[in-house]
Amino acid sequence: MRRTLKVGVIGLGFFGARHARVLAVHPAAELVGVCDKDAARLAETAAIAGVPGFDDFSALLALPELEAVSICLPDRLHEAAAIAAAEAGKAILLEKPLAHDAATARRIVDAVEANGTRLMVGHILRFDPRYVQVYHAAAPERLGAPIHLRAKRSGIRSTARRLGASSSILFYMGVHDVDALQWIARSRIARVYAQKRDVLGNGNEDALYAVVNFENGAIGAIDYSWAWPDGLMNGFRAALEVVGTRSATYLNVADQGFYTVDDDGTSGGDTHLWPEINGRIAGDLADEIDHFVTATLSGAPYLQSCQEAFDAIPVLDALAESARSGQPVEVCRQAPTLAPNG
Ligand SMILES: NC(=O)c1ccc[n+]([C@@H]2O[C@H](COP(=O)([O-])OP(=O)(O)OC[C@H]3O[C@@H](n4cnc5c(N)ncnc54)[C@H](O)[C@@H]3O)[C@@H](O)[C@H]2O)c1
Repeated sequence: MRRTLKVGVIGLGFFGARHARVLAVHPAAELVGVCDKDAARLAETAAIAGVPGFDDFSALLALPELEAVSICLPDRLHEAAAIAAAEAGKAILLEKPLAHDAATARRIVDAVEANGTRLMVGHILRFDPRYVQVYHAAAPERLGAPIHLRAKRSGIRSTARRLGASSSILFYMGVHDVDALQWIARSRIARVYAQKRDVLGNGNEDALYAVVNFENGAIGAIDYSWAWPDGLMNGFRAALEVVGTRSATYLNVADQGFYTVDDDGTSGGDTHLWPEINGRIAGDLADEIDHFVTATLSGAPYLQSCQEAFDAIPVLDALAESARSGQPVEVCRQAPTLAPNG
């Protein structure tokens, strides 16, 4: 008989509810429990998935049959649940960012390594066909050496208001592009010079711009905004470009290739990230979760190593520090190299 991975979900907000829906119908997964401290959210997802609900993640982690968890807690609350899951010996799919600073990320990874379990961070762009194709187009034999890179990501102000101080433009949006830039450039960011603005009063930054230097000599520009009005089609837009010594490649996520127009305006739809297709959540999120389930069951390495996920966090620390101080900041890479994981 085909084995299934017995998995739980911790945090059932915007994203965890979607994780639970994907896992509830995955052919190689068995959702055995869900957890949220919010009683209404817990009851809703537990009922849809038809599984027991827990208001404390320790109770979920104590289920003897549980083998893996997906952790979808707010960005600043990843540590306690991730370390508890590692100590309970569970495989972990942890939503990005790995943690909200490098010291916390290090404690999580140390707990995973000390307990001999496995960790995959939910860097969804690694599963997005557009970004994966840019990665391949930027291979040295096609691109040559990267000369300059640019990443842009804009979100809407109601998202910034909803998350408030529980997140930041860097954790919620910025980590996507920091990871993508380092992955696509095949080089880590060594130095950053950032500036930010906060005029809307949403409890976090409205915008953060930065110039960055890569270890391989390339220069980059980062442009993040959480200030777009809520009418922005799809609620976000993104772009990424790489120019090399032999070729260049450009990615534009402006309208997802689908929109409808009526007398009130234009509205888009999600065709890539987590679209609902024929009653199921499909797209990048479903592919990411499928990879986690199948690689955990087979013991194959995860697509992204723990080290690469970790490498994004000191860059976020440096961007935050530079935006605060107004000075260029060297990325602190003092942490020893992690053992290959995943
Ligand atoms: N990959 C992506 O594109 C993507 C998209 C959205 C969110 N995310 C990530 O997913 C994570 C969750 O984000 P979100 O937008 O769903 O946040 P959210 O605020 O909507 O949901 C968080 C949930 O966690 C619950 N919670 C908080 N503390 C808890 C505790 N101690 N025990 C149990 N439940 C608790 C809250 O009640 C809430 O339901 C974040 O790390 C975020 O960065 C990733």
